[in-house]
Amino acid sequence: LKEDTVVIVLGASGDLAKKKTFPALFGLWRNGFLPKNIRVVGYARTKMDHAEFLKRVQSHIKTPTKEYEQQLEDFCKASSYVSGQYDKDESFQDLEKHLQELEKGQKTTNRVFYMALPPSVFIPVSEHLKKNNYPKNGIARIIIEKPFGKDLASSRELGNALKPNWKEEEIFRIDHYLGKEMVKNILILRFGNEFFGATWNRNHIDNVQITFKEPFGTEGRGGYFDEFGIIRDVMQNHLLQILTLLAMERPISFSAEDIRNEKVRVLRGMPSIEPKNVIIGQYEKSLDGSKPGYKEDDTVPKESRCPTFASMVAYIKNERWDGVPFILKAGKALNEQKTEVRIQFKDVTSGIFKDIPRNELVIRVQPNESVYIKMNSKLPGLSMQTVVTELDLTYRRRFSDLKIPEAYESLILDALKGDHSNFVRDDELDASWRIFTPLLHYLDENKEIIPMGYPYGSRGPAVLDDFTSSYGYKFADAAGYQWPQHQIEPNKL
Ligand code: BG6
Repeated sequence: LKEDTVVIVLGASGDLAKKKTFPALFGLWRNGFLPKNIRVVGYARTKMDHAEFLKRVQSHIKTPTKEYEQQLEDFCKASSYVSGQYDKDESFQDLEKHLQELEKGQKTTNRVFYMALPPSVFIPVSEHLKKNNYPKNGIARIIIEKPFGKDLASSRELGNALKPNWKEEEIFRIDHYLGKEMVKNILILRFGNEFFGATWNRNHIDNVQITFKEPFGTEGRGGYFDEFGIIRDVMQNHLLQILTLLAMERPISFSAEDIRNEKVRVLRGMPSIEPKNVIIGQYEKSLDGSKPGYKEDDTVPKESRCPTFASMVAYIKNERWDGVPFILKAGKALNEQKTEVRIQFKDVTSGIFKDIPRNELVIRVQPNESVYIKMNSKLPGLSMQTVVTELDLTYRRRFSDLKIPEAYESLILDALKGDHSNFVRDDELDASWRIFTPLLHYLDENKEIIPMGYPYGSRGPAVLDDFTSSYGYKFADAAGYQWPQHQIEPNKL
């Protein structure tokens, strides 16, 4: 990690900076992961004094002990704020003066620009930074956040605007799911365990489901969300990243380029998603009437056809996966919060067993990180009855004294170290948009396609289970199985 680093957070008065960037920087700081003399500079249009800025920095940071309070105070001493426009050289010159002031006496000046910005100002800011604030004697890094465009063409446009100013090795495209502990674990689970490695293919796996559920609607973000919809918001990026890690071949090493080469390879083997393999939904008022429907949000157009739920099936045309459906499901305003991968193995050969449930490997990304396998076993007793049980690795039980880092902490640290493994490469982004763009255009252009309604707080559109079953998924839970951790509140574990 480089000494003499300044992290400049552009868009410092916004939501993302407040909720994620500053708390993550503080988390790293207090755990001693940042270089000793790191400084954090906020930059945004809002005019505010130092005290007001610090109030925002602190607004999402909890300080449960005196020690924390002291650390936060020290962190604040290393933080400062400059206000300015996003399209004026003079403003960026003001920022430059401030940075030079902070860097006085340093031999090197390493600058990390964190773009917590709305997409509309992204290009001008990246150009002004290059022109006015590019470090003369040190390392430059630019961390950027989605949305990286709305389709293949607009993503390329963004990429082309960055290219003349920033080298690929200076760019860190965040997909914060890649910073989640369980997502980072996928490669270890797959390639570090012979028994998974041996069965990880179309001969043994019947279908793969990747599910993202949130129990709240677009509350307050309707304006942003309506332009994007659930497919662009979480599927083209977060869920596809998980899919890629599940499906890629073994990389030659853990180096960033070796990993990303394999990721691109698997994406290139995927045909674009066909509309016939997709269902979309939009939430309506909850059944008890207490929660509003999507279109009741004032920031959402009354005739909006924006999907807040989608399920779709992707295929990979290679030797390992041909014919295996990868079922992606994502929705807002559903019955629970849950992100998980469910790998369903094929039926056991019949003969001695009749209708014995399939094995499933479940990777619970959040909440309550765990990995479990649904496994048939003999019911203890004098008969030869079978019962579904589980091999269960629940993190809070197994790693009770370890803290699971926040995704943003992990990724910001990687960016400061210059490790690209968990960031999205330009050709990877391109390949991912290629898979989704025809579907997105089809849905945008065909005005007669109306998302199916589902009540706020439900499991999604009524057809969902039939849809999933039609790709081969067999519901074992219907036969009475429930993962025992399912009902336990995380803090009671
Ligand atoms: C963001 C999406 O990228 O991810 C949000 O824009 C979504 O709509 C969020 O709520 C989910 O992230 P997490 O870490 O809370 O699962």
